Amino acid sequence: MNSASNSARAFAPASVANVAVGFDLMGFSAGVTGDIAIVEKIKDRKIVVGPTTGLDLNLPTDPILNTSTAGLVRLIKDLDLPFGFRVSLEKGVPMGSGLGGSAASAVASIVAANALLPKPLTKNEMLSYSLIGEHVASGGYHADNVAPSLYGGLTLSTMRPKTQQETQDTLPTADVTRLPIPEDLWCVLLHPHISLKTKEARGILKPTLSLQTHISATGHLATVLSSLYTGDTSLLRNHLKDIVIEPQRSHLIPGFSEIQKSALTHNETLGCSISGAGPSIFALTIGQHAALEIKNKMVAASSKHGPSTSWVFQLKNEGARVLK
Ligand code: HSE
Repeated sequence: MNSASNSARAFAPASVANVAVGFDLMGFSAGVTGDIAIVEKIKDRKIVVGPTTGLDLNLPTDPILNTSTAGLVRLIKDLDLPFGFRVSLEKGVPMGSGLGGSAASAVASIVAANALLPKPLTKNEMLSYSLIGEHVASGGYHADNVAPSLYGGLTLSTMRPKTQQETQDTLPTADVTRLPIPEDLWCVLLHPHISLKTKEARGILKPTLSLQTHISATGHLATVLSSLYTGDTSLLRNHLKDIVIEPQRSHLIPGFSEIQKSALTHNETLGCSISGAGPSIFALTIGQHAALEIKNKMVAASSKHGPSTSWVFQLKNEGARVLK
């Protein structure tokens, strides 16, 4: 925030949503990249979309259609603010990468704007306004990217059902649980250089599933959650599996089966699946050494299908923050 408190910059990390077992529910932050929003107070009660630098320079200039500003439009109205905001982005997360780019933009701008409010919002209120931005990109309300980007770490977020008094216009709210992160848990993240639109990757999903699939999928989710709380990560090896969404989306990612197989042939891999709506792919393991070995395997398998960027990082509780 500057000395006159007329502008603030905030960073929000990328994130890996779904985490194989928690479609639309689970996610973890990936601070290896992220977006920075620069928010300035302006006299008029409106939002002005400023310039974007970095990646994806063609973002919508209509504030309602821009993930970084849609939540702020609603915020000005709800708080009856006597001023508006001009929002500029330094885009670090590629859109359509499956790395939570739209969520990072939405969260960064809300966190920066919050630093300029007469009375700051709670984290959960910031989450609600970020959800409005995320909705622009995805067409649905789910906090599996915005929650880890805002709170950091590994989160379980469930949309709170509306009460009978609430209407379509009621601010969306999620209940967020910050899950324990097993010691020395590392992620390998590979981003093939293609782009997938979240709305399209959601549009191909079947609306129903069989009772047997439901039982197996809830079993995997429950066992993964229990292993996080008990610290028995050996259970992840059998249960960190996406039997619902991955089979329907993997054909959108060139070489997915081969890349996944290359990760799963390493003894230390706990699981490997699609990051968010894809095309990025993540694998989890214990320790940096194993993570680097798994990354090498995945990069080798992926290189036959095109260029990619890859990272290894330890899961940590670092979420969005105002930059000095
Ligand atoms: N859970 C979402 C999906 C994340 O997989 O469609 C991407 O917005």
